[in-house]
Amino acid sequence: MTLQVGVVGVGNIGSTHASVYKENPKTELVAVCDIIKQKADAAAEKFGARAFYSVREMLESGIRLDAVSVCTKGEENGGEHFAPTMELLEAGIPVLGEKPISNRVEEGKQMVELARSKKIPYAVNLNHRFTPAALRAKEWVSSGRLGQLHMINMRMWINNPVETSPWFHLRALHPHSFDVIRYFCGDVKKVAAFMMKGEGRTIWSNTQVLLQFENGAIGNLVGSYDAGKSYGLELCEVVGSKGRFVLEDACEHLTFYPRNSIETETYNYLGGMRSFPETFKSRIGDWVNQLEAGAAYDQINGSGEDALKVQMIIEAAIQSWETGAIVEL
Ligand SMILES: NC(=O)c1ccc[n+]([C@@H]2O[C@H](COP(=O)([O-])OP(=O)(O)OC[C@H]3O[C@@H](n4cnc5c(N)ncnc54)[C@H](O)[C@@H]3O)[C@@H](O)[C@H]2O)c1
Repeated sequence: MTLQVGVVGVGNIGSTHASVYKENPKTELVAVCDIIKQKADAAAEKFGARAFYSVREMLESGIRLDAVSVCTKGEENGGEHFAPTMELLEAGIPVLGEKPISNRVEEGKQMVELARSKKIPYAVNLNHRFTPAALRAKEWVSSGRLGQLHMINMRMWINNPVETSPWFHLRALHPHSFDVIRYFCGDVKKVAAFMMKGEGRTIWSNTQVLLQFENGAIGNLVGSYDAGKSYGLELCEVVGSKGRFVLEDACEHLTFYPRNSIETETYNYLGGMRSFPETFKSRIGDWVNQLEAGAAYDQINGSGEDALKVQMIIEAAIQSWETGAIVEL
């Protein structure tokens, strides 16, 4: 059965979700909703869906919705997700939210708890790891090809001159980085962070965060909003007792380096995926496949709970920098 889906907040990213749903043969985009009437109307016209100007109106219309993307924005790119997400979950509708889950951890907790108590799938678009290359690397970790995990070096940086709040860089960008980190190394136990305001900037636009994981591995994040076009988006290196891998730019290049041999193994553009923008299709595709297969609320990949956990690492990093202490999660 085709899933009837809607998108709430049809700005830049909401339009991307809508395009992906339009192309997916398993979904029918039936509703677009934006509090700015012109945006909702334009999206309805473009995507052939019905326009709504509030979640309430959309819910009261009686239209069948099997899932909804919430692509609102707000303060630190996550301040507006809470109200529409709670309304949808309350109505029993599975939600794929945008990241960050919220810039306020308390709101994140409430959304995750509501979904859990009502047993409703709730996911967040932590799309960086939904790539064939990340999946291959994850298989290497799970099968023991790396041996015991020792360390992770994670780097994620872009150029973003926006200066809306001191913690904008941490809260808006690094849900992605910490999600990739958790995907490979598991839950984080301790966090210590240093931050730096780039030249001419008023916000903490550069960071180095040290991590210790529950499994004993250690690692770090290098993050920046002051990167250049030639810097690449991200690099993830995971080092174990038997070997290490380097994954460049989410999906483009993956190499395995065995510890006891010079023979390396490299994959370029696994699955034919060329660049980061394609991760929306693979991530949303995974969400749709899970819903179609009837996945239980607690089996969802890139779940609200995962998104909450990364936000808690971010808050621990902020606390560490403010206090000079190592913060335990
Ligand atoms: N996953 C990624 O790789 C990625 C990349 C960039 C941005 N994002 C995230 O996508 C989200 C959206 O960013 P954007 O640049 O598209 O924002 P945007 O401002 O272009 O769009 C947000 C839209 O939501 C609408 N809106 C706000 N509150 C609403 C409500 N209660 N009901 C209905 N509509 C409402 C606004 O009118 C606006 O049109 C942000 O959370 C951002 O962090 C994710």
